[in-house]
Amino acid sequence: MIKFNVPYLTGNESKYISEVLQSRHLSGDGIFTKKCDSFFENKWVFAKCLLTTSCTDALEMAALLLEVKPGDEVIMPSYTFVSTSNAFALRGAKIIFADSSKDNPNIDAASIEALITPRTKAIVVVHYAGIACDMDIIMEIANKHKLFVVEDAAQAIDSYYKGKPLGSIGHLAAFSFHETKNVQCGEGGMLIINDTSFFKRAEIIREKGTNRSAFFRGEIDKYGWVDIGSSFLPSEILAAFLYAQLESIENTQKRRKEIWQQYYDALKPLEKKGIQLPYIPNYATNNGHMFYLVCNSLEERTGLTKVLKDNEIHAVFHYQSLHKSVFIKEQNYQVNELPYCEKYTDCLLRLPLYYELSNEQINFVSEQIINFCN
Ligand SMILES: Cc1ncc(COP(=O)(O)O)c(C=O)c1O
Repeated sequence: MIKFNVPYLTGNESKYISEVLQSRHLSGDGIFTKKCDSFFENKWVFAKCLLTTSCTDALEMAALLLEVKPGDEVIMPSYTFVSTSNAFALRGAKIIFADSSKDNPNIDAASIEALITPRTKAIVVVHYAGIACDMDIIMEIANKHKLFVVEDAAQAIDSYYKGKPLGSIGHLAAFSFHETKNVQCGEGGMLIINDTSFFKRAEIIREKGTNRSAFFRGEIDKYGWVDIGSSFLPSEILAAFLYAQLESIENTQKRRKEIWQQYYDALKPLEKKGIQLPYIPNYATNNGHMFYLVCNSLEERTGLTKVLKDNEIHAVFHYQSLHKSVFIKEQNYQVNELPYCEKYTDCLLRLPLYYELSNEQINFVSEQIINFCN
C-alpha cells in the first residue's frame, strides 16, 4: 500500500530525547523548547514564538489574546479545519464564513469586506497547502476597519508571500507540527506573536494564567494567578523531537518540493480534461506540503479514489465545508452560499506526499490517475 502519509524521522530524534531523559527536566520550557523557539525567531525573524501542544491550542491562545467574546464576529474561510473556527466559537464568537477563491482553496480576499459589520473583531486566514493568501489586500482591509488578522499557518512552514515568511504578516499566527506536516513531532504547534503588545499576556495565558515564566526568569520572587489561561506548553520530550526535525528542514523541504514537482509535471496534461492542479500565484511560494487535484465532480473524485485504492494507493479528500456543519446548523443563523468552498469539499483529492516516497511510486500513482482520466 502506498500510504497517504508516513512521518519522516531525521535520525536525531531519539538522541535528543535521550538527552532530555538524562537531564531529568521533562516538563516544558527547558533547553529544547528554547532551541525550537529561537530556531523560528532566527530563521524566519518572527518577533516572538511560543511552542504549544498543537496548532489548535495556538489558535485558542490567539482567541484569548484578542479577547474575543460573545457578540463578536470573526471572518474566516469555510474551507478549513474545524480548529480554525472552534478556537473562536469557544469564546462565544459568531463565525462568518467566506468563500474560497476560484483558483485555489484560500479565502477569496475580494469577498471579505462585504462581510464586515460593526461586530467584526478579526479576520482569520488559512494558507491552504502552504500557499499564501493575498495578504496585502487582507491587511489593508483589516487596517482600514481596525481588525485583527490571525494567520492559520498550520501547513505553511517555510513558505512566503512577496518574500515575507508566512506567519510574520498578521498580528498573530499559528503553525502545526502534527505528524502530517513537513516538520512534525506527532502533535505540536507554535504561536507567533508579531504584535508586541501581546508578548506579556501570551506567556501568562500559556502558563495556566500565571506569571510563572517571569518567575523562572527571576523577574519576580513568586508567581500566582493573574489572568485566564490553560496548559498550552508541551513537554521537553516533544520539543527535543521537534528540534531534530527543524535542524533537518532544508533537506526535508528539498525532497518534498521535488516530489511535488514530479507530480505536477506528470499530471499537467490533465488540465485539458478539466482537472485543476494546485495554483501558486506570483506572490506566493510552494513549500511542498501538499499535492492535490480538483476533479470535475464528486462522482469523478469517488471513482478516482476507488481506482487508486484498488491499486493500493491511499489518496484522501480534505475539509467538509464548515458552513454546512452540524454545529453551525444548530446555531440557527443565515449562512451564505459558498460555491467554491463546496467545490473543494466535493472535488479536492490529496495524493500521497512524504519524504520517503520514491520516484517509482510517484510515477506509479501518476500513471494510475492518467489511466483513469483517459
Ligand atoms: C488549517 C488547519 N488549522 C489547524 C489545524 C490543527 O492543527 P493541530 O492538529 O496541530 O492542532 C489543522 C490540522 O491539520 C489545519 O489543517
